[in-house]
Amino acid sequence: MKFDAVIFDLDGVICYTDEYHYQAWKAMADSIGVYFDREINNRLRGVSRMASLEIVLERASGKFSQAEKEELAEQKNELYKKLLANMSPADLSEEVKSTLDELRSRGYRLAIGSSSRNTPFILRQIGLGDYFDAVSDGNNISRSKPDPEVFEKAARMLCIEPERCLVVEDAVSGAEAAHRGGMKAACVGDASQAGAGDYNLKSVKDLLEIL
Ligand code: BG6
Ligand code: MG
Repeated sequence: MKFDAVIFDLDGVICYTDEYHYQAWKAMADSIGVYFDREINNRLRGVSRMASLEIVLERASGKFSQAEKEELAEQKNELYKKLLANMSPADLSEEVKSTLDELRSRGYRLAIGSSSRNTPFILRQIGLGDYFDAVSDGNNISRSKPDPEVFEKAARMLCIEPERCLVVEDAVSGAEAAHRGGMKAACVGDASQAGAGDYNLKSVKDLLEIL
């Protein structure tokens, strides 16, 4: 076995929160008269909340103080959390759940490595609150992807060497973070299309072919 552990990004890999992020950022941007569209939303994938806000504010004409920025990020997050409250175990696809179960039965340790500070809430909503062996997320890091911190911490929580961990990512910044942390990356979605991974997969279940 080449790997002992698989570290999964959350948003865009385990579940799909893109639309909720989009709606919440759009409402916040509209409230201050700043243009925002789905193309800009795509640039926020894998990026921390405050770094995302900076991208959203690129289109703003005026300047915002740090306190104002924090208020805007909070405003977005409050709406985002209201939308997340609609999520349920039905938002966890059968494909993802059966892939996770199969990997576990093959003996892999399974972890989450996500930039999101809402990770514990999302995992509970989709019925995976107690599922993973380790959860490293936006609450325990000070540097966002492409910095490797979130994955390094996940590997440390599992007590497994980075080179024995495979990261699963949908964001190019996430694949870069894995590589900078000395890990291999299996990509799906955007990152797969960009060829950013060591393995570029069509979907999560293809992990069963490489592990
Ligand atoms: C990442 C998402 O998982 O989490 C980003 O891909 C998001 O789009 C980031 O900005 C931070 O999320 P949160 O939930 O802490 O605002
Ligand atoms: Mg992602």
